[in-house]
Amino acid sequence: MVFFKTDDEIELLRESNQIVSRTLAELAKLIKPGVTTLQLDKVAEEYIRSQGGVPGFLHYNGYPKSICTSVNSQVVHGIPSDYTLKEGDIISVDCGVYKNGFHGDSAYTFTVGEVVVETLELLKVTKESLLLGIEKARVGNRLGDISWTIQNHAETHGFSVVRDLVGHGVGKNLHEKPEVPNFGKRGSGMILKKGLTIAIEPMINAGKKEVIQGKDGWTITTRDNKPSAHFEHSIAIKDDKPDILSTFKFIEEVLDGKK
Ligand code: MF3
Ligand code: CO
Repeated sequence: MVFFKTDDEIELLRESNQIVSRTLAELAKLIKPGVTTLQLDKVAEEYIRSQGGVPGFLHYNGYPKSICTSVNSQVVHGIPSDYTLKEGDIISVDCGVYKNGFHGDSAYTFTVGEVVVETLELLKVTKESLLLGIEKARVGNRLGDISWTIQNHAETHGFSVVRDLVGHGVGKNLHEKPEVPNFGKRGSGMILKKGLTIAIEPMINAGKKEVIQGKDGWTITTRDNKPSAHFEHSIAIKDDKPDILSTFKFIEEVLDGKK
């Protein structure tokens, strides 16, 4: 069943998502060679709790940490560990916050020091595909319009779209109906209506689309070991336009200051 949200509920979702976005900006300050992903997790958990939230991923289906940190060929759901970030890595940080009964969910892929230009292109195209997909999240369009737009942009640039994991409805539960694939046909799928809130999260691979699940039961990795990127926003469909509830603004202010 799909749950449509009132305007008041959407404001609560926005509050949770804004904490997610500020948490990711705190991590943006720390991401550099020499930092472990466990250190990032600790800072995230402390920041989320300082804002009156609870880490939305912690203990979700037994997940052991507050964020997902997926490095290089890891696609999503990497578990923070004593892995030390090194020059040339990329790291997707996925963060969730639960507050006032609603979940926030957003992810950003960061560079660690200097990264090869092919990988920079992967990050740019993945973020663009998310933003282009969001543009299609309008009353009267169909879910497949979002999916097709993301797939088309990624594949036009020579990248491939992960099929095994998808975006999702978001609200009182972290994962609600409908599923939001990053691939599909234009004009197919459910008709989008006011009050639908979804997390759109393209996972785009530099090489082939196939992925494998790690022995830890969580980490998803590309089969060919080439890099993968992941960007995610939670959005609400309003009468006239998509309303992006998370934001990359705080993150990008930090990153612009680093240059
Ligand atoms: N954004 C991720 C997802 O929607 C977050 C889930 S991680 C989990 O799949 F650990 F909570 F499962
Ligand atoms: Co998600």
